[in-house]
Amino acid sequence: MTIWYGGDYNPEQWPRAIWDDDMRLMNRAGISLATVGVFSWARLEPRPGEYDFGWLDELLDLLHANGVRVDLATATASPPPWLAREHPETLPVTEDGVRLSVGSRQQYCPSSPVYRDRARELVRRVVDRYADHPAIELWHVNNEYGCHVSHCYCDVSAEAFRGWLRAKYGQIDELNRVWGTAFWSQRYDSFDEVSPPRAAPTFRNPTQLLDFDRFSNDELLACYRAEVEVIRARSPIPITTNFMGFFKAVDYWAWAREVDIVSDDTYPDPADPESPAYAAMVRDLMRSLGGGAPWLLMEQAPSAVNWRRRNAVKSPGQMRAWSYQSVARGADGILFFQWRQSVAGSEKFHSGLVPHSGTDTRLWREVEQLGQELAALSARTGDAAITGTRVPSTVAITLDWDSWWAIEQPASPADVSYVRTLFAWHRALTSLGLAVDFVRSDADLSGYRLVVAPAHFAASDAQVANLASFAETGTLVVGFGTAITDENLHVRLGGYLGEPLRSALGVWIEEFAPPAAPDLQNLGIGTPPPLALAGEAFGGAATGTVWAEFLRVEDAEILATFTEGALGGWPVVTRRATGAGAGWYVATLPEPDALRRLAERVALEAGIDLPAPAATGEQVETVRRGGSLFVINHGEEDAELVVEGTDALTGAPAAGMRLAPQGVAIIYPTSGTSG
Ligand code: GAL
Repeated sequence: MTIWYGGDYNPEQWPRAIWDDDMRLMNRAGISLATVGVFSWARLEPRPGEYDFGWLDELLDLLHANGVRVDLATATASPPPWLAREHPETLPVTEDGVRLSVGSRQQYCPSSPVYRDRARELVRRVVDRYADHPAIELWHVNNEYGCHVSHCYCDVSAEAFRGWLRAKYGQIDELNRVWGTAFWSQRYDSFDEVSPPRAAPTFRNPTQLLDFDRFSNDELLACYRAEVEVIRARSPIPITTNFMGFFKAVDYWAWAREVDIVSDDTYPDPADPESPAYAAMVRDLMRSLGGGAPWLLMEQAPSAVNWRRRNAVKSPGQMRAWSYQSVARGADGILFFQWRQSVAGSEKFHSGLVPHSGTDTRLWREVEQLGQELAALSARTGDAAITGTRVPSTVAITLDWDSWWAIEQPASPADVSYVRTLFAWHRALTSLGLAVDFVRSDADLSGYRLVVAPAHFAASDAQVANLASFAETGTLVVGFGTAITDENLHVRLGGYLGEPLRSALGVWIEEFAPPAAPDLQNLGIGTPPPLALAGEAFGGAATGTVWAEFLRVEDAEILATFTEGALGGWPVVTRRATGAGAGWYVATLPEPDALRRLAERVALEAGIDLPAPAATGEQVETVRRGGSLFVINHGEEDAELVVEGTDALTGAPAAGMRLAPQGVAIIYPTSGTSG
């Protein structure tokens, strides 16, 4: 099986003569998959109802003749200007009432029936024409749903939102109850009075905000489904749409069920030393969304992007190292944005596989080298095979979009970043060499030994019960900010943490006490001081950040306490062990070293074997996929391998091998077979 190699290919930006050169270079680089037509609507339908497919016919034939498979886009991500001229109401409106204009991209209201109709008609034409074309490997629906416009506040959206609310609540009194409109005179007398949460004098109704997040996700998903329906009626070829890592506006659990293969666009910042660790988490999410199945890295930058204020290049070897990180964590394809760097338009300074300066460049040489290596790896069989294999894991972190939307709302005890909180836990666990999945809190957790549920703020009774019952047989760690409210954002009274979680953990929360900085003018400036902690859970002293609370213990051991200030002496880490399981509670976000020590302690008590390091060096990432151990050196010093086996990339024995910065080894047992 092939590890796909390729990227977005936008030849409509270039004269025909360049296409032949593209084919020659694609073959040199071992390109096997090209994503075509993502932004081609204006070219395919230059005037309403007038289609021009001639150029795409020729292009697909050319790619096919050159052995390049095609991920064909439905081209609906960016409507042509004529749609806005004919139907200005298809343009999206921001919460401040600003109608967005043409001249950029993705300027459509997701609820617009006109947009959906025109998009569906285009898809019908594309699919009718190309369903039987031998080059097509995959359908690429739209592009990065919600990337620029995820919530639209226009009148069409408002009407759709009312319909959504009617379907959900039936009666306006039920909406009033769930939204808590007795507060601030918000009571509605009919659904006609309800609007999207547009700009308002001060804090908007929290449940209205949350419902609008849910509605907005549903509307985008409806756009996706409308296209998928057209494709499925005509073609059995698999379908994807590209995700964007931890993207707040779109609940990928709901989407993942509806794609045939998960694909992702990730642009880690080369200037940020945390990027490899963060990207590792994103890749683990992609694998988890597909239930562990292989996924595709649909887009990454060959080197610099153009959309940060300052755009760092990837250092020599970094593109390769980060590509292998994806393969290690379950990807069966490495694709880029984009093939040939644009000559005009707002992405002309975004790197491409074929740079402005041509092929006598370090970047192109790296592109060719990686293509050749991936082709060789694809051919391996037996213990050394990579494609199609899985990343086994006994550890999971819960992730739920409702809680993400809820915990980051204003008017909360402290500004908590949901993803940063998950990242802290993910990093602590992966730094121990553990493979970590993400799961929904209402999923079947029985395949895991250890489940961490951090900041699971808006927990339904079913989710609370699911977590609690896991603690009877596995090790559950609940982090602060969990089960503060139900799924309607109604606070759980009588001590936060609902039953039966409260009994499973043996604790309840009396009062929140997040660390705060002096803030005379409510400007949100200043960094809160760290909280002093100590106890055996950390093997001594530690510090906490972000959150704290007065935690009451009913039936648990106290393994660490706050040591200073108003919280001094109050518990911060507790454990309640039952027969086979245990329930831990952590009332702050320990700083990285302390969290790592805590995670190690928890993992060991959960009976999880911590793998011995595969190499020397601080920033060495190791991941086991299938029969192979991937070792990637993200540090600035050489690392030395201390495991036995053979490196699939060089054929050399692993033990004693030196890995330079950005170096990669893929080690399989020497006794294994390789093809
Ligand atoms: C993605 C998008 C691509 C391109 C890329 C640049 O968000 O799908 O079309 O714009 O970013 O980094």
